[in-house]
Amino acid sequence: MSKPVKMPSIAYVVARSHPQHVIGCENKLPWRLRTDLRFFRSVTEGHAVVMGRRTFDSIGHPLRNRMNIVVSRQDGNDGNELKWVKNREAALFFADIYSIINERNQLMIIGGAEIYKVFADLVNKVFLTQVFGHFDDGDAFFDEKFDGRKWKTLEERDYPRSQDDDFPFRISILERRLKSVRQRELTDFLVSDFRISDWLKQQVVEKVPSFERLPEEQFELPIPQRA
Ligand SMILES: NC(=O)c1ccc[n+]([C@@H]2O[C@H](COP(=O)([O-])OP(=O)(O)OC[C@H]3O[C@@H](n4cnc5c(N)ncnc54)[C@H](OP(=O)(O)O)[C@@H]3O)[C@@H](O)[C@H]2O)c1
Repeated sequence: MSKPVKMPSIAYVVARSHPQHVIGCENKLPWRLRTDLRFFRSVTEGHAVVMGRRTFDSIGHPLRNRMNIVVSRQDGNDGNELKWVKNREAALFFADIYSIINERNQLMIIGGAEIYKVFADLVNKVFLTQVFGHFDDGDAFFDEKFDGRKWKTLEERDYPRSQDDDFPFRISILERRLKSVRQRELTDFLVSDFRISDWLKQQVVEKVPSFERLPEEQFELPIPQRA
């Protein structure tokens, strides 16, 4: 039996209103926050991003320089940087492979409401944006509570309303105190039922030793704009 390998840690990237916890309205984001979008890009680029089919529809195209993994019970067409999967297990399988090959020890769950729930027990880090505004038409919510006994705040910064951002907001990076660790046997990748090419299998086997030694990834918060 091969040695178990630690798989990438799972993070949420989410923006919600405070205190109502709205994340969407009619399958769109209810605010325009350019600074936060730039932060979203900086945190997710180069990573596997896992999203629900409705969020994918809302974005309208695969996000560039990321492996877009779309969870849906329906069939969909795979493409460059785009993979459709039917359940959480398959999403993690492809996200793990992509992360190992690209030497990323974190994979990102980017919503929406249903998909955040699917991964709730595995999440170790949260890139949380709290938007200070009221969005009475909101129809998608993220109600997860981050109890200080279970979560610590690594970083936090406030941003004023500005030319780029229609509402004031706060970005926090939260980390679970007792992390959930996922491991796989390398043979999982080699004998899996999922169809992956021999080339891909070889890539995984060759990359695992360096992947295991990766330090934890750090992300810098953006500098606030002047109000
Ligand atoms: N503010 C933010 O940070 C943020 C981030 C992302 C999204 N959003 C917003 O959130 C809203 C969308 O959220 P949502 O909850 O409606 O949709 P969603 O989570 O994006 O997608 C839901 C879809 O995912 C698939 N799905 C869910 N659970 C599944 C499972 N266990 N197995 C297989 N497939 C599963 C189903 O697709 P099928 O119907 O195809 O089977 C389901 O209809 C939008 O308003 C969007 O703008 C906000």
